[in-house]
Amino acid sequence: MAALTAAARRYDSPSFVRRVAHLTGHFVAAAVAELKASGARPGNRRLYEKLRALAEREGVPGRTPEPGRLLAELLRDFPAMAPELLLYARCGPQLAGVLTGDVDPMQLLFSDTERLAELHYTTSVAHQYLNRMARELLTGLVDAWPADRPLRILEVGAGTGSTTAWLLPRLPADRTTYAYTDVSSAFFPRARHRFAAYRYLDYRTLDLDRDPAEQGFAAASFDLVIAANVLHATTDVRRAVGHVAELLDSGGRLLAVEFHDNDLFAPCYGLLGSASGFTDTELREDTLLAREQWPEVLRSGGFTSVVQLGEEPACSVLFADRGEREQHPPTPSDAAPGHFLVAADGVEGLPDAVVARLRTLGRSVSRVDAATDSARWGAALSGTEESVGIVVMLGEQANGDAARAVDPVVRQAAVLRAMVTACQALPESREVRAPGC
Ligand SMILES: C[S@@+](CC[C@H](N)C(=O)[O-])C[C@H]1O[C@@H](n2cnc3c(N)ncnc32)[C@H](O)[C@@H]1O
Repeated sequence: MAALTAAARRYDSPSFVRRVAHLTGHFVAAAVAELKASGARPGNRRLYEKLRALAEREGVPGRTPEPGRLLAELLRDFPAMAPELLLYARCGPQLAGVLTGDVDPMQLLFSDTERLAELHYTTSVAHQYLNRMARELLTGLVDAWPADRPLRILEVGAGTGSTTAWLLPRLPADRTTYAYTDVSSAFFPRARHRFAAYRYLDYRTLDLDRDPAEQGFAAASFDLVIAANVLHATTDVRRAVGHVAELLDSGGRLLAVEFHDNDLFAPCYGLLGSASGFTDTELREDTLLAREQWPEVLRSGGFTSVVQLGEEPACSVLFADRGEREQHPPTPSDAAPGHFLVAADGVEGLPDAVVARLRTLGRSVSRVDAATDSARWGAALSGTEESVGIVVMLGEQANGDAARAVDPVVRQAAVLRAMVTACQALPESREVRAPGC
């Protein structure tokens, strides 16, 4: 970590940042010369003005642009920054095309053939440094997590999964649920392939600009939200933070990674539509928020304690606590069922822990067989009160052997079918739920 910290400081060093801004100025001057005839697309006006202002600040217009020479000198002086410099080397010459709309920045950065962004996220010193820090924070959380409690994780803007890859090995596979989400489902086929070993991943689209409930994500349904380099990409950061807070249960945490230097960002990720599409201009003039803005934004969005780590001033890891949610008196449909039936197939230990926990909470509980026969479920249900909660736990049994997986899976499907059949046969007045205990 010490070596990474030293290298991250170099990324953050004023001379590196200044020289990249100067390089960008030269790339922009070359692009403007190329653009003369066609001009920037109206939708790219904001981006065009931003890049031009940067070039003017660097005093480049009117001089012969020399991006190739500057890039070579940067590589000579900052060899550890090669992944960042590769990004500028690929994006810089495409600025004119991006501005006219002939080059799609999404393709430039995220195409399956080059995977430029993924390569950068995976190999750059800054990302390794931030991801390692995020992994240590997650490890602390997992170590302190009660052994009998599921850990419900949501990753927003998961994209190429470069942060995910650092975190997954630290999670307890037997009690983790992990919603891998992004505004675009285009990332999912590769992620499914890359993370095939992690069976608990669930791939879903989620747009942080919209109300999560309308997209099928219930309030208070997660213990941890991971947001690696995404909050700034939304159109309104405060609203997005509010959506994240809404999704977290009492005491839930947000683990976020953010960069803060708009000069480093402008000629690469700053080309994406999401970087120029923000509407919260009272909060920011440019895409990335300054480091010192984040704690206030998170606090005003519903987080009670905020820890900010990372090398100043270019990047941060933010770890924030949702605090207690306001408790509403239970409505009839929120009230706990009068009785619980707990059935398990292929799961050891957890069913007993669930039964014990429910009893500690003062609930009435029966352990029943995971029967494949609906009559046996009917008998178990007939002995219960009006409102009953059924908890069924079905485990993996084949240890990766596909041939041996078939019988248990068929039996477990039969268990569920028998249970549903028995529930459907109950009178209308009976209420059956799969409760969140
Ligand atoms: C800079 S990339 C983040 C990188 C990502 N964590 C990774 O490792 O690849 C920003 C990500 O945020 C996603 N994004 C942009 N706007 C979003 C929104 N409104 N809601 C959710 N995700 C969004 C993008 O699709 C992209 O994957």
